[in-house]
Amino acid sequence: PSMQPFVDELPTLPVLRGDHLDLVAASTRHRFHRDMGEVPALGYGGETYLGPTIERRVDEPLTVRFVNRIGAHPFAADMDTSLHGVAESYRTSPPCSLHLHGGVTPPDSDGHPERLVFPGQSAVHTFPLRQSASALWYHDHAMGITRTNVYAGLAGMVLLRDEFDTGEPGNPLGVPAGEFEVPLVLQEKLFTPEGNQNIRSTVVVPQGLWEGGAVGDVGVVNGRVWPQLEVARGLYRFRVLNAASFSLWNLFFGNHMRFWVIGNDHGLLDTPVAVQKLLLEPGERVDLLVDFSGLEPGETVELRNDEPPPFQAAILGEVAMPMFCRFRIGDRRGFNGSVPQRLRGGPGLPPALPPLETPDLVRNLTISQPYELRDPPSIMALNNITFDNSDIEMPRQGTVEQWNLINITPDPHPIHIHLVNFRILARTALRTVDYQLANPQPAVGVKWTPSAENFLAGPQQPPAEWESGWKDIVRVEAGTVTRIIVRFPTAEELGFDPDATFSRTPSTEDGDPAMRDHGGHDMSPAHAHSRDNELQGYVWHCHLLDHEDHDMMLKYRTVANEP
Ligand code: C2O
Ligand code: CU
Repeated sequence: PSMQPFVDELPTLPVLRGDHLDLVAASTRHRFHRDMGEVPALGYGGETYLGPTIERRVDEPLTVRFVNRIGAHPFAADMDTSLHGVAESYRTSPPCSLHLHGGVTPPDSDGHPERLVFPGQSAVHTFPLRQSASALWYHDHAMGITRTNVYAGLAGMVLLRDEFDTGEPGNPLGVPAGEFEVPLVLQEKLFTPEGNQNIRSTVVVPQGLWEGGAVGDVGVVNGRVWPQLEVARGLYRFRVLNAASFSLWNLFFGNHMRFWVIGNDHGLLDTPVAVQKLLLEPGERVDLLVDFSGLEPGETVELRNDEPPPFQAAILGEVAMPMFCRFRIGDRRGFNGSVPQRLRGGPGLPPALPPLETPDLVRNLTISQPYELRDPPSIMALNNITFDNSDIEMPRQGTVEQWNLINITPDPHPIHIHLVNFRILARTALRTVDYQLANPQPAVGVKWTPSAENFLAGPQQPPAEWESGWKDIVRVEAGTVTRIIVRFPTAEELGFDPDATFSRTPSTEDGDPAMRDHGGHDMSPAHAHSRDNELQGYVWHCHLLDHEDHDMMLKYRTVANEP
């Protein structure tokens, strides 16, 4: 379909406030562009694509009643039943799970990929939100079909506020608020000739088979293709989320103007960092200040991407995605403050970022693409094992660990850990071939995490200044060892037991059919009370959705640090 850029206005996603919210995952129809019809999609708002932006104060618990009311799934034919956990019945009865990404959340409310909510069922989640003011997001996490569910529209933004970052004009940070603070949920998509959403990046792999990653050739912002926002002359705060399935972006403005990063995944940096470009992986958030005050009324500037297309797109022949949206400068004067000197550590500002601690333990973890299981396509693996493997990481609560993420694949992977936040220590190039020759990789299923210390190919590169704050996802570059430092909190600090067991079957309410038969899934009371109905702990995974579904996701638990 031919789509003219910048004819639609940037949509403002509705905002939900309150301590008890309902989120309904449902089928809907959505118009992505003025010149296209309404097409099948999913969303959390009952009948909207994507979900409302949830605004909440930190330390004020939030209860969400999550309901699955999906009828027809736009990607029923694209589900791959050879992937872990995906049943044929999912095409007509697709399960969901609701995960608050970045949430410091009790395990039974964390949207565990195996705690599935089927159509007609609901689950009640509680989020304590004892964490920093930041931009989080929520999305589906159902085992094996996260890639189809999130692409179809099951994603939304969360803005956490505190007494400094109030979101109100006159906030102590001195940053733009109200209409001058704009959430930008960035995605990229392909559309079929009929104008439907298309999750298939290549014609080489037949429909219904996993193909590694869904790319796009058009930019979608807050649910619209190439929208335009008229801006006032002044400073804006953009809360930017990469909600794409697969693509890493190198973001910049068309006029190459500089802008400022003021925060990462889990809140503010100490000081704003001026940049002209930045890399953003799926799942990552950045908090930006952009100054339009020097531009003339009527001038336009685009938000662009020049990261070259990934491998899958190359098969199709150069599917590039160069453009997200355009800003058109209006006559109005806008927010008249300037970029603050400090964000933390000054009088009346939040405390500065703490210095990095010394790790109690160093762990090596591998990221690889072994070919043994299916040929082609291979699986994607962490530690050379699959999701069901019980040989998992079990950090002690209250301790600090350094994780060396050893990526021997030729692609970057955004690695995300639930429950915790961390800082990036360094990235170091790896002599991948020497490493593999010296440490032959066993068959999939045998944990394989050899040290890379003797195979480094250069100095440790500290993270870019703009990515030196609190993170929950790290870009692990191809052929590198990327080191992060992470503290695993105690039950006392959290106010809940992070290692509690919980039921695989969600609680159901309001007469929703509780023990419905979901095509081969034993929901009988006998199963509900058996041991294999119990789940425990969290997951860590690659945030490329096709990777986490196949099988680049592992469980982990944090265990009490008893003497
Ligand atoms: Cu954004 Cu495990 O997820
Ligand atoms: Cu990956």
